[in-house]
Amino acid sequence: MTTSKTEQGNLSLHSLGKIFSQGANQVQAVDNVSLEIHGGEFITLLGPSGCGKTTTLRLIAGFELPTTGQIILDGKDIANDPPNHRPMAMVFQSYALFPHLNVFENVAFGLKLKKMPSNEINEAVEMVLHMMNLTGLGKRSPSQLSGGQQQRVALARAMVMKPKVLLFDEPLSNLDAKLRIQMRVEIRRLQKRLGITGIYVTHDQVEAMSLSDRIVVMNKGRIEQVGNPVEIFMRPSSLFVADFIGRANFIEVPVLERNDNTCQIKVFGSVYEVPCNNKIKAGSQAYLLIRPEMLSLKRDETSTARIRSTVYLGSSVEYELEYDGINLMAVDTHPHIETILEEGSNVSVNFDPAASYVLPYEDRREK
Ligand SMILES: Nc1ncnc2c1ncn2[C@@H]1O[C@H](COP(=O)(O)OP(=O)(O)OP(=O)(O)O)[C@@H](O)[C@H]1O
Ligand SMILES: [Mg+2]
Repeated sequence: MTTSKTEQGNLSLHSLGKIFSQGANQVQAVDNVSLEIHGGEFITLLGPSGCGKTTTLRLIAGFELPTTGQIILDGKDIANDPPNHRPMAMVFQSYALFPHLNVFENVAFGLKLKKMPSNEINEAVEMVLHMMNLTGLGKRSPSQLSGGQQQRVALARAMVMKPKVLLFDEPLSNLDAKLRIQMRVEIRRLQKRLGITGIYVTHDQVEAMSLSDRIVVMNKGRIEQVGNPVEIFMRPSSLFVADFIGRANFIEVPVLERNDNTCQIKVFGSVYEVPCNNKIKAGSQAYLLIRPEMLSLKRDETSTARIRSTVYLGSSVEYELEYDGINLMAVDTHPHIETILEEGSNVSVNFDPAASYVLPYEDRREK
């Protein structure tokens, strides 16, 4: 098994489409998806249930054939190759281990099919079991393992095949919260160390943020935005993305002026210069996106903004407030006993314009 990064595993999806026919009904599960994934990159497909994540992954793996488009791996169109001819391995939510085989046999299975000599199989399996912290568990059956150990065996079984591309379909959903975080870190460490291209499907935005070089946000079979976690969170291309990735206040505002990458908007009685989407035009209405953590509140009896609810969560305090007929969410991530605001208090509202963003008005109606 190589430990150096490779130039292999470059994957291009060109106008990929998949239509499922169910009697007279047709479902466009994947719609004109184009994407360049670099060798060794970790990409996450993120989006709500039914948006086409699993179908995209199954098209890449070869479990489904595309209705349109091409899948190019290192310069070769593989869209019609059967799954076992693709240098890929997939890890599923259900682990999908063979219950009648022990851990060693589960991991060795694919190598045996390839008719690898048994001494080489032993060596490869022992090495990958060691890498996955499973040394000594080779003789156990899957039913004698915890969920986390079973998922490690599934990962080992995928890794031992030395795939160019590793595909993950919500592999951590069945694990408890603590184990999920631990496995997340392990998956990322392993993928980086081996330099394998990783494509990971999830509807959990925190998982996507913590694992990915880039996130692909999908909606109704289409790509809404591709970007690194910071871009997706701070510079979402649509209200859909902004809403899906974290919590958000959307405040309707007039755009007074448009500059290079910023615009002037009027909100809370003042004019601010805020980074903006390139579709924003002077004189239009737009949505100002302010994340709840970016709103700061201060006791101020003269203000018309009023706290409607205070929820103390220990490491943070969440507020709902009303300001001139607008409902807002605010989160104080550094609460002190003396700064916690009671329900009914009047507060002044401030935000950091540089950490906010202006999005086009029309997107909300399309949502
Ligand atoms: N074999 C199939 N036959 C018919 N329709 C299908 C089939 N597989 C998926 N679909 C439909 O295609 C759409 C996309 O499904 P897909 O499983 O890719 O979504 P997903 O993003 O993985 O969702 P989830 O988060 O719930 O797993 C859905 O409308 C689904 O009902
Ligand atoms: Mg799915």
